Amino acid sequence: MPKVLISDKMDPKAAEIFRERGIEVDEKTGLSKEELAEIIGEYDGLAIRSSTKVTPKILEAATNLKVIGRAGIGVDNIDVPAASSHGVVVMNTPFGNSITTAEHAIALMFALARQLPEADTSTQAGKWEKSKFMGVELTHKTLGLIGAGNIGSIVADRAHGLKMKVAAYDPFLSEERAIELGVEKVTLDELFARADFITLHTPLTDQTRGIISAEAIAKMKPGVRIINCARGGLIDEAALKEALESGHVAGAALDVFVEEPAKENALFGTPGLISTPHLGASTSEAQINVAIQVAEQMSDYLIDGGVTNA
Ligand code: MLT
Repeated sequence: MPKVLISDKMDPKAAEIFRERGIEVDEKTGLSKEELAEIIGEYDGLAIRSSTKVTPKILEAATNLKVIGRAGIGVDNIDVPAASSHGVVVMNTPFGNSITTAEHAIALMFALARQLPEADTSTQAGKWEKSKFMGVELTHKTLGLIGAGNIGSIVADRAHGLKMKVAAYDPFLSEERAIELGVEKVTLDELFARADFITLHTPLTDQTRGIISAEAIAKMKPGVRIINCARGGLIDEAALKEALESGHVAGAALDVFVEEPAKENALFGTPGLISTPHLGASTSEAQINVAIQVAEQMSDYLIDGGVTNA
């Protein structure tokens, strides 16, 4: 009987599915890397979210491991080349949390446009600072979408509903797909020059790391607002801090940070910054979706070698 370890907090549906499929399952969260290395040799499958870091050391100890399932999209907490060299298949669930993440980006866009967190804090402090919180409308504004994949295309759809114009930069976006999505395909420099709001929906790779650099910010419209629900490393945080302080960037809403958990960050306290603790995928619906998907995909693989989203 194959044996799976769930090492991050996951909806109970995942364990239920493994058991229904005849797979033994242990749920052990909050393990240190040493504790994980000590027990990983017992398992055929490892189901994780973002907390577990699958390093070459863990993979060396994982002598029976056949599959790692990431209940979510990003696999940047897994050393994928090392996994492949050990013959371990890595799977993710690219669709289960896309709507939820797109909705968080839209929520942050509204929060930026109307300074909602600051207005809430001020109101609850009894200040009633009505004139301090002048906002901007979203209607007819240009949303610059960096990345028009699963999540980006849902953001574009919702932005159309808000009567925004959407300009998209994505090297993998064809003209046909751009037409289908109703977005204008642009270069990165065009996007920087035209966008009132910029939202990031791209994985963190060597090509995208620091895509929002000091140089990129200098090309943006003064007063631009930036949303990041993708990965922290896409933005040069020091450059963003400087731009918020100078007012060139009017606001930034960050769900993700270079270092996570971001218990301390030089950006904290900067005027115009809104932050959330990597909540992009945190809805009950999305967590059920990804738990079901990861458990089904991993069970298929362990039982009869079926491969999905690897
Ligand atoms: C993802 O990659 O799926 C999201 O960032 C959410 C998560 O980390 O679970």
